[in-house]
Amino acid sequence: MSGEASDDPEFLAPDVVDVPGDEWEEIDVSDTEADRIARKRDREFSQFRTRLKDADQFKVEQSVFDDATFAAIYKLVQDGHINAFGGPISTGKEANVYEARGTEKTDVAVKIYRINASNFQQMRGYLEGDPRFEGLGQDKKAVTLAWTQKEYANLHRAAIAGVRVPTPIAVERNVLVMELVGLVESRARRLAEVTVENPTTAFGVVEEYMKRLYAAGLVHGDLSEYNMIIHDGELVVIDLGQAVTVHHPNSTEFLQRDCENVSAFFARQGISTTGEELYERVTDRTPALSRESANEL
Ligand SMILES: Nc1ncnc2c1ncn2[C@@H]1O[C@H](COP(=O)(O)OP(=O)(O)O)[C@@H](O)[C@H]1O
Ligand SMILES: [Mg+2]
Repeated sequence: MSGEASDDPEFLAPDVVDVPGDEWEEIDVSDTEADRIARKRDREFSQFRTRLKDADQFKVEQSVFDDATFAAIYKLVQDGHINAFGGPISTGKEANVYEARGTEKTDVAVKIYRINASNFQQMRGYLEGDPRFEGLGQDKKAVTLAWTQKEYANLHRAAIAGVRVPTPIAVERNVLVMELVGLVESRARRLAEVTVENPTTAFGVVEEYMKRLYAAGLVHGDLSEYNMIIHDGELVVIDLGQAVTVHHPNSTEFLQRDCENVSAFFARQGISTTGEELYERVTDRTPALSRESANEL
């Protein structure tokens, strides 16, 4: 399929593309600008790195972030995507998420993937069989960079498909900048942490988002109440790093698991549903709800 048409949302509509998911741009995991900055180590970068390493919120991370990661952050600062760092929101298995000040008055979330993540083999399993990431080999750096770019591309794809996700802003090496959902002072809660006032409506929204993702050729692959956050009455799907295209050899299994997890959560909220039923509905190509009606909780 032609890569040129990939910017045109019309082209992505499920009724236009028979086999969605192939029309991704090439992903480049070769040497990045950040690697070059880290190698050159000019004075300005060295000072920046020292400042960041000394900042309270990074102290714990000194042993984890390498120079090229600091260089990636430096590049994002230079390019105006990050203006100041706030504290960590989350320290996960493979990535840390920080809040930061972006351009002007917007706040952003900065997700920093660790090159030496312990679950490297697991990451490989999701990339293998994805047409976007053929031939990456065992190179940890290439895999992590591909993973970061995959999350960025997936967020973009999901947003185009009408799924409420954090708007992707920039990606550099292993660092992803996206819209911060929630305010600095009041972190958006995971679905798992809130009392769902109207589970039927919330379930309807999640189901609709799963349908839209699927129609756009994507399967989330780790969907549960831990990767959906609630803010201002809006349900936002996050953590799309592992999302695969429908062409991935395990995409059916991943979607079935997503359906099981989502159903189990809503069954505990009193909804009568099973993973199989949800799976049938998500993969059934009936016309989607209007966007406006799906987004409101
Ligand atoms: N864009 C965002 N806005 C606000 N909070 C976020 C955002 N992205 C991630 N978070 C917070 O960080 C946590 C971890 O992010 P996630 O993408 O799920 O990474 P992990 O792979 O570590 O699970 C989330 O549960 C959420 O609390
Ligand atoms: Mg998560």
